[in-house]
Amino acid sequence: MSRYWSKLVTRLDPYTPGEQPQDQQYVKLNTNESPYPPAPAVAEVLNNFDVAGLRRYPDPQSTQLVAALAAYHGLQPQQVFVGNGSDEVLAHAFQAFFKRDEPILFPDISYSFYPVYCRLFEIDYRQPPLGADFTIDVGDYAVANGGVIIPNPNAPTGIALPLGASRELLADNPESVVIIDEAYVDFGADSAQTLIAEFANLLVVRTYSKSRNLAGLRLGYALGHGDLIEGLQRIKNSFNSYPVDSLAAAAGAAALADETYVRDCNHRIIANRERLQAELGKLGFEVYPSMSNFVFVRHREAAAEQLYLDLKAGGILVRYFKTPRIDDCLRISIGSDDECDALIAALGRILG
Ligand SMILES: Cc1ncc(COP(=O)(O)O)c(C=O)c1O
Repeated sequence: MSRYWSKLVTRLDPYTPGEQPQDQQYVKLNTNESPYPPAPAVAEVLNNFDVAGLRRYPDPQSTQLVAALAAYHGLQPQQVFVGNGSDEVLAHAFQAFFKRDEPILFPDISYSFYPVYCRLFEIDYRQPPLGADFTIDVGDYAVANGGVIIPNPNAPTGIALPLGASRELLADNPESVVIIDEAYVDFGADSAQTLIAEFANLLVVRTYSKSRNLAGLRLGYALGHGDLIEGLQRIKNSFNSYPVDSLAAAAGAAALADETYVRDCNHRIIANRERLQAELGKLGFEVYPSMSNFVFVRHREAAAEQLYLDLKAGGILVRYFKTPRIDDCLRISIGSDDECDALIAALGRILG
């Protein structure tokens, strides 16, 4: 607290990211990063990068990256917006599209950055509760609102919304922008991207951080009707003209060219997820059906916070949220084979 702070700064309740220990001593299963390195094509581009060119500002429109993403998704470049991580893209979208006369809607259990943006941008919000099984009932969103945002699959539950439900959500909300945050969609869920041609109020937000193994690069993007993309451009050009640096733009385009590598990594993550779910079930955990690169679990007897602390003491980081309704759960990212083995062995010792 300082007397120099504005009222806004005083009122903020900033987001707390998962721990990022700098000593690399942990098996890190707490922030849903990929256990695998980026595609070899990314390393090649970075190794051959024209360092002298860094004296210039990057292309403010990221033209080549946008063109590569448009081609990859079968859209026009005017339907693609890129930013410095999907968190930044989401921040711009909150400012661009969420109207102030009615509260916006998002589930009571979802990505904990959404309420943080609401406070920062002074947007009123309401959180329809998930069902007892943590599923979303899109009928809860068929009410007057200033906008809707839903992660699909949801975070931190990992539960996916079928495409029919996304369609219903969009059809029920023709006056609002509906943002589907698809940070984890590549691990088995249905993308709403196929609905973009049908619904001018749909914005799909994606990231390179999870299924493209590039959380350290900070690259995210949005897909939608050209009018929505233009709205995002107006915010971006009123905030930071150069959100995507030259290195990220080049690496991001290269990452799209190596689809076989990315698919292979994601298949390995899905296979490990299935294995982990079965093993955790045997250890007495209730496991929510995940379509993500993490699992959300509750032990039938052991307290989640103590499990988190015991795992950490044993060198394994998982995510514990001290939040109502989920303070008895753990979110565990899917690691490599060895990391999954280490987790199972540690839990076996702790619970045994
Ligand atoms: C649901 C969801 N959306 C968006 C993000 C932000 O991803 P990034 O800013 O790394 O692109 C995350 C990160 O964990 C997430 O869980």
